Formats: sequence, C-alpha cells, structure tokens
Amino acid sequence: MGKIIKLSKLNVSDRDRVIKLVKKNGYVVLRGLFERSEILNSLKSIKNNFNHTQDNSSLAGSPKQIFSNFQKLCIGSSAVSGEKIYRFHRIIYNPVWSDDIYNLKKIFLKFNKIRNIILGFEENFCIDKPEKNMWSACRILQYPVGGGHMSAHKDYILKSVSKINFNNMFYQLILLITEKGTDFFEGGAYISKDNKLIDIEKNTLRGDILIYKTNIVHGVEEIDPSKKLSLDRINGRVVLMNSLYQNYSKFRPKDKYFKNKI
Ligand SMILES: [Fe+2]
Repeated sequence: MGKIIKLSKLNVSDRDRVIKLVKKNGYVVLRGLFERSEILNSLKSIKNNFNHTQDNSSLAGSPKQIFSNFQKLCIGSSAVSGEKIYRFHRIIYNPVWSDDIYNLKKIFLKFNKIRNIILGFEENFCIDKPEKNMWSACRILQYPVGGGHMSAHKDYILKSVSKINFNNMFYQLILLITEKGTDFFEGGAYISKDNKLIDIEKNTLRGDILIYKTNIVHGVEEIDPSKKLSLDRINGRVVLMNSLYQNYSKFRPKDKYFKNKI
C-alpha cells in the first residue's frame, strides 16, 4: 500500500514526495483530493446525460472539433496522431468553456490545478482558457464492459509527433470515476515494470488519481470481456483526463498528421 498517498489538499511542497514515489514504483495513487460521493454523483450525471447518437468515428475529431464538446467511439489502431495503439473505448471531449452537460466543470477546474502542481506549472496555468498555445484537453474516457481496452504502449513516443508529452512533462494523470470490484470486475489500468504486469487499479477507489510516467509501458486490460457489449449507455470503466494539448484551433500545426484536419 506504499504506493498510495493520502492528502486532503495538494500543495506545491507535496510535489517532490509524489514524483519520488512515481519514479520508484512507476506509478502512484493520490487519495483524498476528491470526495467519493462527489465523484459518484459525477458518474450518475455522465450516465444520465449521455447520448450514444452523438458518437463519431475513430478517426473523427479535428483539433477544432475537440476544442468543444465532441464524442467519438474508438476501435482498432487508427488514430489522428498516426500512432498504432489498439483500443476500444469512447472519448468525450468536454472542455471547461463548453456547455457543462455532464456537470463536471468544478471537478475539471480542480483537477487542472492538481495537474499543474504535479507537472510544475503555475497553479492557474490553462485552468479555464488556452494559454501559451496550450489548452487543457478535459475529457471523459469510457472503457465499456464487454472488452473495452487499450494495448500496451508508451505515451513518450508521441513527443516526436505532437509534443503532447513534452507539454505534460512526462507524467500522466488519470482521475478514476469508477471502481474495480463495483462498476467492473476484470481488467483495468496496468503498467509493466521489470517485465511484470502490475494492476494499478486493483485497490483504488473512485476519486483517486493515478499518476504514472509516460515512458513506462502501460495499457488497459480488457474490461469484463465475458459480458455482453452495449454501446448505447455508459458502463464499465470511466476516467477523466486533462492533458495539455497544443492549441491547434488557433495556430496551424506543423505535423503532417493534422494537415487536412483543420
Ligand atoms: Fe497512454
């Protein structure tokens, strides 16, 4: 259990301790920054306001589109970035300046501050508006029961493609909205360390934040693969992410992958 840090508030002075543990173990869990009941309400709100007819294709989602509410169902290894990672999940982009259709704005604003402290940015950097050609790509990820997954990969290789990981200083933060053992029973996030797969979601609770190094091999093992798939509702594993993306909605990207997508 040495990988769980319990805190009711994250201060800049906590950063060293967090980073040290991530370096030692490959990951860390921050507990206590969000109330479980608050996060359970968020899950209910996501479920109640979800509309499967809004799904777009795996390759949909230009930089301009994901700058506001935008939903896509991703299957296979096709990706806008051109990176080959096999996956089956849904992404719902929900930037804080868009309509707050899932009632997540408060959670995302707080999560953005936590990200800034962990990554070493100013506490209010990119909290609720783009800054320095970057923005907080606040989004919901759903890995449905019936096989939602993401194959083993490193985020680090994206550096050469879009600088996403350069912006994120090589640490990834995942806010858990669901709990293994309650919302789903098999699968979940893992890292590979010393040739061993470590289930990093085994003892977690909703409201916990998983932090791992982006250059460690990680993925999402299939969620309840023996259950029947239903894509018209939210079930399985749900997490929030808020990585810093480059602001391609304003400045034309140089990367060839985005050439025709603006
Ligand atoms: Fe990743």
